Amino acid sequence: MFLVFEGVDGAGKSTQIERFCDSLAAAGHELMRCREPGSTALGERLRELLLNHGETPIGMRAEMLIYMAARAQLVEEVIAPALAAGKTVVSDRFLLSSVVYQGHAGGLPIDEIRAVGAVATSGVRPDLTFLLDLHPDDAVRRAGDTPDRIESRGGPFFRKVRDGFLSEAAADPDRVAVIDAAQSVEDVQQSIMNAFQRHLGTPGHPHGSTT
Ligand code: TYD
Repeated sequence: MFLVFEGVDGAGKSTQIERFCDSLAAAGHELMRCREPGSTALGERLRELLLNHGETPIGMRAEMLIYMAARAQLVEEVIAPALAAGKTVVSDRFLLSSVVYQGHAGGLPIDEIRAVGAVATSGVRPDLTFLLDLHPDDAVRRAGDTPDRIESRGGPFFRKVRDGFLSEAAADPDRVAVIDAAQSVEDVQQSIMNAFQRHLGTPGHPHGSTT
């Protein structure tokens, strides 16, 4: 089973992924946890290139392709083998981030991103994505005070990111669960478990049977 967490920067993904993985492990899932961009040697190098304020100018198309290159490596090296071994894969971001950050907010055509995405992922799709939804003003307040290259794009960019995520979720409600991330940490955690059970069965059934 392949599960993904998405949301604007500062929505509290890391804390919630930690708690979610603890619950799944306690329920007997064998887990593989990863993050994008990263979780492979190539991916971590590309992450530095993408997020550090270096001197290398990166256009939006190149940016999209670098995220995709990191993703291709992650799928081949980590995600596909883990799924084949029957593990539950939990990823911090996946293709939807490219659709939203480089597409809805960055201005690249969405269908082009999906076409490149199909190549990069070789068709591997999340069974369920948790979208941690938070107003960008609240997210900025939670984010640290040293923004990375993407985070420094500012308010209007992040409003487009949020709206992009919400419109993608509305178009695919069976596979994207919107979670109100403005709630307390405990309530967000509970909402995630509720959505998980609603969509894929109980955490006691690692393969998601609902019977
Ligand atoms: P993330 O690891 O969530 O950042 P942080 O740990 O600082 O919250 O994500 C890294 C950044 O990369 C984030 O700003 C979103 C951006 N991103 C894209 O723009 N496109 C993508 O395809 C991915 C995976 C991430």
